[in-house]
Amino acid sequence: MRFSPEVKPASRLDLSRAYTADVARSLRRLAFKNVRRTHDVVDSEYNSGEWDRVLTQRGWLSGRTLEDFLIGQNASSRLAKVDGRIVRITTRDYYQYRIGALSELIGRHADEATSLLELGAGYGYNLFSLSLDQRWERLRGFDIAPNGIEAGRQIASHFGLDGRVSFDRIDLTDAGDPHFSELAGGTVFTYFCIEQIPYAVEAVIENIIRAKPARVVNIEPGVDMLKLSRPRDLTSRIYIRSMDYQTRLFKLLDMLDAQGRIRVLARERMEFAPTLHNDGLLYVWEPR
Ligand SMILES: C[S@@+](CC[C@H](N)C(=O)[O-])C[C@H]1O[C@@H](n2cnc3c(N)ncnc32)[C@H](O)[C@@H]1O
Repeated sequence: MRFSPEVKPASRLDLSRAYTADVARSLRRLAFKNVRRTHDVVDSEYNSGEWDRVLTQRGWLSGRTLEDFLIGQNASSRLAKVDGRIVRITTRDYYQYRIGALSELIGRHADEATSLLELGAGYGYNLFSLSLDQRWERLRGFDIAPNGIEAGRQIASHFGLDGRVSFDRIDLTDAGDPHFSELAGGTVFTYFCIEQIPYAVEAVIENIIRAKPARVVNIEPGVDMLKLSRPRDLTSRIYIRSMDYQTRLFKLLDMLDAQGRIRVLARERMEFAPTLHNDGLLYVWEPR
């Protein structure tokens, strides 16, 4: 059963303070850092950054259960999007809620599938969350980062999930990558992965189409459905620009749909997010 967290609606003052601070941080980043999201930048943020930390710290050894590991111990309060509303919630409760929300969301768009492949899975946070739902019999993650893959494999082994959750390497920009063949006929998703490849969005989508998956769910930040008159949307827009995340994916999918190369089945805004600014969009499509 899905966990219903205790939440408090965010007050106007709370929201305006948070939006102002968020926009100020993004503007500072734009002015002083001028991030260009190249392959090397992504490698240093993820492979030798976050995933190296995850692998070194081995946090899964201190949790009693997989759920403990995924939820963590952080009881401090934050603003987050829960069921489409910005609320105050503890970090711990947010991540407990997210486990059910993610499985329900992907399940709703995955037709009859009981297996999923995630492209850009990192160390598999999403896949391990999904593994708590018995619907998902086989979960396979691909990533370019060796440290993410290694951490994912160790976590799967620690929790006795070797047969059900597995990891391998892929470079989504490389049309010749042999692991694309595993996508054929499968249900594939991305979760804040293509955001990291702004320099090759078209190539990545071409490679996925060529691999002939049955269905694709892209959950990525986007600018397309944002209304700039809303503070939340404006905050997201500036944040996405300051991080140099991709902004072409959803226009590209609409264009491929208009050309008859793919069929877009759903377009939605995400109902949950851990911050005010990383507000994702979801597109579901099938190659024709
Ligand atoms: C923001 S992380 C998201 C990880 C995971 N989807 C999650 O939600 O926890 C983006 C991931 O995309 C991966 N990535 C970036 N470029 C890639 C590429 N060319 N091929 C495969 N994965 C890539 C990174 O290594 C990183 O693990």
